[in-house]
Amino acid sequence: MVLAPTLTLAPLAAQAADGGAVPSAAPVAASSTPGAAQAQHFTPPAETAMPSGDFGQSVKLGEQIFIHTKEYAGQYVGNSLNCASCHLDAGRKADSGPLWAAYISYPAYRSKTGHVNSFAERMQGCFDYSMNGKAPPLGDPVLVALESYAFWLAKGAPVGTDLAGRGYPKLAAPAQKPDYARGAQLYAQHCALCHGAGGQGQSVDGKTVFPPLWGAQSFNWGAGMHEIQNAAGFIKANMPLGLSGTLTDQQAWDVATFMDSQPRPQDPRFTGSVEATRAKYHDSPWSMYGKTVNGHMLGSE
Ligand code: HEC
Ligand code: HEC
Repeated sequence: MVLAPTLTLAPLAAQAADGGAVPSAAPVAASSTPGAAQAQHFTPPAETAMPSGDFGQSVKLGEQIFIHTKEYAGQYVGNSLNCASCHLDAGRKADSGPLWAAYISYPAYRSKTGHVNSFAERMQGCFDYSMNGKAPPLGDPVLVALESYAFWLAKGAPVGTDLAGRGYPKLAAPAQKPDYARGAQLYAQHCALCHGAGGQGQSVDGKTVFPPLWGAQSFNWGAGMHEIQNAAGFIKANMPLGLSGTLTDQQAWDVATFMDSQPRPQDPRFTGSVEATRAKYHDSPWSMYGKTVNGHMLGSE
């Protein structure tokens, strides 16, 4: 019973996860920035234009790491996600944290770290939090390959400007207060088929087909996706996979609230107390860390 949706939907996911098979213009046309459905985005080079030689090999390796992170960089990964689980079409898709827009935006100051981050340091952050792992040290071949891939995807992009489609879209404040119960209902209706009733995702032969949204194998409490406004923007623009843009903004807020009110791995910056960790790192209306939901204090799992 659980396998039926996997078998039906796996080709869809495989297509989405395989940047190579999709013409580079397709993700642009499919993107759904609220209020700007036809927005023009930078087009990264086609897969067939990938260079050869030593540099080309590094680009190719970076792409493989990005799509199959555990297989290619397993020592740095602590969950079942791949980079491409949240950066769709292998980091090509606008409104899904595309690598071409990211690459040209660093070095940059980040309040999260309190200093200017290089591009490599920014990627380390996604290893520590989104991948619930231990980031490769600067200069590690894994980071060099990932940076080569991002650099190549940004070929021809203007430098020092925010490209349209960077990051996840910022949704306008919700009309109604986001609601956990409405979100639970939406989740069962629009998400559980792929991500599982318990948010655990689905894998086949040890490979993640549908990534976990919460629980031990998902992103941790320090990840950007745990903040409701980030998740709402991502979901609105990208989910349900293949039907992006079909949820209203309010529905995206509601289902993001439900998803981000579930247990997940501890924030690696944990100070020893949930209250103190909330005060130091999660003092925001968008973080449920330290809040009690259904009798459980989130962050104490
Ligand atoms: C659980 C989801 C998730 C996973 C998995 C993930 N990321 Fe991210 N990533 C995010 C979020 C959220 C942001 C911030 C997006 C924003 O600023 O709107 C981000 C931002 C980034 C940025 C900066 C984007 C920019 O425009 O500034 C880079 C680079 C990046 N991620 C690389 C990676 C790499 C490399 C991996 C795999 C090792 C990875 N990410 C895995 C969620 C994820
Ligand atoms: C048709 C199957 C399908 C449906 C339905 C679907 N998703 Fe996804 N979702 C995926 C796949 C596959 C990915 C990983 C991206 C990829 O591989 O291209 C993903 C990625 C995600 C991610 C980022 C990765 C992670 O694990 O955190 C979030 C968050 C997410 N989905 C939320 C939702 C929500 C909320 C809904 C319902 C509104 C939903 N999805 C419906 C297939 C689906």
